[in-house]
Parts: sequence; structure tokens; C-alpha cells
Amino acid sequence: MRSVTLIAPAKINLYLEIIGSRPDGFHELAMVLQTISLSDRITINPIGIDAITIRSNDPSLPNDHSNLAYRAAALMVKQFPDMMARYGGIEIEINKRIPVAAGLAGGSSNAAAVLVGLDLIWDLGLTQDELQTLGAEIGSDVPFCISGGTALATGRGEVLSPLLNLDNLYVVLAKFRNIAISTPWAYQTYRQQFSSSYISEADDLKSRQQRVHSGPMVAAIMKRDGAKIGQLLHNDLEKVALPEYPQVADLRDAFIAQGVLGAMMSGSGPTVFALVESQAEADRVSDAVQNQIANQNLLLWTTKFVSTGIHLAES
Ligand code: C5P
Repeated sequence: MRSVTLIAPAKINLYLEIIGSRPDGFHELAMVLQTISLSDRITINPIGIDAITIRSNDPSLPNDHSNLAYRAAALMVKQFPDMMARYGGIEIEINKRIPVAAGLAGGSSNAAAVLVGLDLIWDLGLTQDELQTLGAEIGSDVPFCISGGTALATGRGEVLSPLLNLDNLYVVLAKFRNIAISTPWAYQTYRQQFSSSYISEADDLKSRQQRVHSGPMVAAIMKRDGAKIGQLLHNDLEKVALPEYPQVADLRDAFIAQGVLGAMMSGSGPTVFALVESQAEADRVSDAVQNQIANQNLLLWTTKFVSTGIHLAES
């Protein structure tokens, strides 16, 4: 078996609306997702024993089932049981740059890369649809991470409609090293506080559609209107995360004070992102916010929209 190296980009949510609860315990969502140039590098290497192992430059990453990349490999071994006998075991080497548990789908993107990588080296010839169906078993964001770009995501987040790919916007990301927000906590707290506004399964389709508000954001994307996209950023999970973590709210306000197109928490947080129109503006805003917040736990990255999902590394 040969080795293969893939680029696994992070994602941000430009839009996240919680529509209701689902019989499977998840939430019905309407999201607009965007891949960005901040990415991990995943190499899959052959090893001499019939096992799945994980090696990483980040020693805090788990190397068992609690790592989504491991789970993706285990799912592929279960689905295609002859492959390990034919090709031997797998070492997944994760070169991490995407912050962990940050609302940027780093773990999901790593899992997506393992699915794509094993499809390649085992010569399975799976379609993107087949890979995404497998990905949905691992996590709601994994199908999007496979295809990337700009997409409307509904259902649990796994039903994807690709939108016009945007690559004209720059993103400043900021995260406090010492704040972590659990995704199940964010959704459960939202349910406790806001389930009275949920659309019920009994509501007819027309009234459901009237109560989903993602249309203007989708229209702004189709027009590549960065200013409008900035104004229309929306994330329902901010309603539970920002009151609980006022530092995250302050960070968002610090970005807005810099006159960015828009700023918001990504996913279940705690990463906050700001949209700007150029690399120079991203650098200026990053420096200004770093100086204003003046906290040694604050990490910042400048990055940009990309139209790719998982893809082969160039060398
Ligand atoms: O699918 P994923 O593993 O990313 O989901 C993590 C957690 O987020 C779930 O266990 C659930 O608590 C919550 N979630 C949800 N509805 C979704 C996606 C995630 O309630 N559509």
C-alpha cells in the first residue's frame, strides 16, 4: 500500500439557524457552511500490523475511538473487511493546525480526509455521494468537509446544496486558548431555553419554509455581495454561548468595532471570526484586536475562503 497525503480544510458557519428537534435526538438545521484555507495535513501510511494507529504533532489528540479520524478508519474497515487483509494496517498521521474543539470542524475534516484517503489507496472508486453517506455516520459536518466550498446544509447538516463558490473574502479567526465549549452542551442548552419556538414535525411544509430565514444569505452569496453577507451573519448558538462566555462576546464586539464586514461565533464556538475584503485588512484587524484585548490566551489566524474540500496535497 502506498502513502497518501491530503489537505483537510476547516469550516466556518456563515449562517446557523435551529429549526426544531428531530426524532433521532439531533436538531433540524439550516446552515450556510464555508471552507477556509486554514487546514490540517493528513497522511495515511501502511504499517506492518493489522491495526489502526494515530500519530500527531498535537500530543493532546486522542488516538482511539474518541478521535473522529480513527472512527472514520474503523468504519471503512467494517464496510470493506477484505481491505486490511490485502493492504495491511493503517497509520493516520495528523499534522494539526486547526484548533481543536473550536467550532471549526477540525475533527470532522480529519475524518473526511481518512474516508477520501482510504478510498484512494484501497482503490475502491466510491462516489462523492457514497463517501458522504459514510461520513454522515461519523458526524453531521463530515459530508460537507468532503466537498467543501460554499454550501447550504439542512437536515442534521448532512443534506447539502452547493452554492456559488466564494473565494473573494478573507477571514480573521480568534479563539481563547482557555475556553472550550462542548457542542452537545450548546445544543442541549438551546433546547432547554428555546424549544417553545421550534417548528414541530406536524407543521406543514409551507409554514416551515416560511419560518426558515436563510433565503437572504443565500441570495447575498449568489450575488457575491461581501457587505451583505457580513450583515446577514447569523448563529442561533450565540444565544446560549455568549451569555455564558462574555469574553467571547467581547471578542466579537472588538472585531465589529474595527469596521469589519461582519463578525460572529462559528458553530458551537468558541472561535469568533470576522470577514474582511483583503489580506492587508485581515492583518490590520488581527493586530488591532490583539492589542485591544491584550490577553495572552488569545490566538489569532488570518485565512481566506476556499472553494475546495478534501484534496490531495501537492507534494
Ligand atoms: O454530529 P456531531 O457529532 O457533530 O454532533 C455533536 C453533537 O451536537 C450531537 O451529539 C448533538 O448533541 C448536537 N447536534 C445536534 N443537532 C445537529 C448537529 C449536532 O443536536 N444537527
